Amino acid sequence: MVIPGKSEASSSVSEFVNPLSEPCVMVIFGASGDLTKRLLVPSLYNLACDDLLSPNFAVLGTGRSKLSNEAFRSSMASETTGLRAFHTRHEFDEVVSDDLLSRFFFESANIDIESFKGLKKTVQALDKKYQAGGNILFYFAMAPRFFGALCENLYKAGFQEGSGWKRIIVEKPFGTNLQSALALNQEILQYWKEEQIYRVDHYLGKETVQNLLAFRFSNGMFEPLWNKHHIDNIQFNVCEAVDVQGRGGYYDQSGVLRDMMQNHMFQMLSYICMEPPGSFEADSIRNEKAKLLESVRIYTDDEVPENVVRGQYGPAYDAHGGVVQSGYREEADVDPQSKTETFAAAKLHIDNLRWQGVPIYLRSGKALWKRSTEIVIEFKKPPETLFKGTGVQNLTSNRLVFHIQPFQGIDLLFQAKTPGPTMQLQGVDMSFNYGEAFKSSRYTGYEVMLYACSRGDATLFSRGDLVEAAWRIAQPLLDHWEVASAPEFPNYTRNSWGPKSAYELLEKDGRRWFEVVTPDVLEESPLFEGADPLLLSAVILALRPMTVAPGETIIRQGEVSTEMYFICRGEVDVLDLKGEIVNQLQDGQFFGEVALLLTTARTADVRAKTLCDLFVLNQNDFKRILRDHPQFAKKILQVAKDRYDLALSVNEFMTPRSDA
Ligand code: BG6
Repeated sequence: MVIPGKSEASSSVSEFVNPLSEPCVMVIFGASGDLTKRLLVPSLYNLACDDLLSPNFAVLGTGRSKLSNEAFRSSMASETTGLRAFHTRHEFDEVVSDDLLSRFFFESANIDIESFKGLKKTVQALDKKYQAGGNILFYFAMAPRFFGALCENLYKAGFQEGSGWKRIIVEKPFGTNLQSALALNQEILQYWKEEQIYRVDHYLGKETVQNLLAFRFSNGMFEPLWNKHHIDNIQFNVCEAVDVQGRGGYYDQSGVLRDMMQNHMFQMLSYICMEPPGSFEADSIRNEKAKLLESVRIYTDDEVPENVVRGQYGPAYDAHGGVVQSGYREEADVDPQSKTETFAAAKLHIDNLRWQGVPIYLRSGKALWKRSTEIVIEFKKPPETLFKGTGVQNLTSNRLVFHIQPFQGIDLLFQAKTPGPTMQLQGVDMSFNYGEAFKSSRYTGYEVMLYACSRGDATLFSRGDLVEAAWRIAQPLLDHWEVASAPEFPNYTRNSWGPKSAYELLEKDGRRWFEVVTPDVLEESPLFEGADPLLLSAVILALRPMTVAPGETIIRQGEVSTEMYFICRGEVDVLDLKGEIVNQLQDGQFFGEVALLLTTARTADVRAKTLCDLFVLNQNDFKRILRDHPQFAKKILQVAKDRYDLALSVNEFMTPRSDA
């Protein structure tokens, strides 16, 4: 597998020169749709900018609309809905864009043999003009119900004939359940060979997902630890802040299990848990992925509710109970009584020698408080008895965190002795940040897939048996939910951390979800907006989790306390002197941040309205961070002045409190 991106990559990258993509005519079905504009064309443009796109290449867009070549080109170039809007480079290169789009053509066609015979003539003419060697790449950017007919009619129109390769890229979803996936595979393979079919899972195109394999198999130190003897549990977390974004019609027939778990999350699961492949050849990797998915325990109907919970988002409310954003059931094209899950959390078991007994937790949902995907590997704790008689109360586990997006990096969390005469520990972090280490341009994730497909490398695509194995795991859940009565939906508010049942799923195992706070989340607080990444990561490490029962007072008027609170889950009421509620805060919001700057009596009560999971940042930890990074203190004091009207001197501010 070869990864593009040479021209803007850092100089530490090897001098290996990537070969060009292979010559071909790319035929896009559904070319006037969103996917083509937002992802395919920007990807081809990135390949062209990086000198990776063969000059012997052309695109033939097709669909039911009647478009001239010029109209197609200008819609693909558009500043509002085309390449100029969606490109991902630092700067837009007119010359590259003009050259690329001059090789774009359009022909209107229905999905039938006659239309496809017409398309074939056009493809032959383009093949001749661009000397593409008879190679054709078909891209199905259409709804899956058309895939079978596309395969059949392309074959019957004679596209499989002649010299050169013919390859088909199929977009997800691949089937809507096990039965339909089996039928679709059968239908496609009736006309085309498995090695001609490239099933897209765009997560496999993400650099950070590809890096999971690179990390595991190029760093010898982790492999001996990668098993049930050293790892306590693994958590996969895919939080989306977006709602269904106008795709209610599709989503209501799908739900998060079909939309995210069965494909994207199971792909990441197999990368993290599979056995080492014999080589980096596509089938070597895909064989191991298939073996891994086949080892995931298939639940019986009784086991489903014990191990899987689901949720659906409701509206978001303002402090007076008014709806500020509607819930899922009020979205366009969604059934007002819908039972479709917009959130799910599952505990899976892998019944093989490596992972027997290690719980694998997965969690994903829409309309959550932040967008972030991460994988947390929690290692087993050492015995605490060793520290008996020291100031160390309990040990925290080591964790390896793969940040997939939007923050991209890897953290290794461990404990270190704090300076001083007694034995005290503090959590610290070894952190790798992609953005800092590699200065390359952002990619859409699709360029590497188009490039790999043109070169006949199927590593980043799913194989028929893999898709079927993934559906086998999901099917009992779908079957159970089909007949079981749904939980009281909606069961989580928009912009929250999801339903309570997801927390209970882990609590009954004596574990917690690791709520990963990323720099962008912290930056939502005015105090940290635009702060230096180094400062943000030091603050993140200093955050301590805290759970508060409903009705409990977190901050009391008149009392001097020195913490800032960050709400992960739950709601709090802010009360004035007369005990009246003046504000309500919930998941993702902060309170008490002035106490990081100034030690004075609190001016309001803050009381938990529901069970709350909070992160707490202590003033002393904050000052210690600023002493370690004095370059940031000035900026923070400026923020204190501008935003909170507090005039503080550096000396006064940095002195640790005597009662610390
Ligand atoms: C798609 C799903 O496959 O992946 C969407 O259909 C989802 O519902 C999207 O939002 C998430 O992709 P990404 O790359 O933004 O994590």
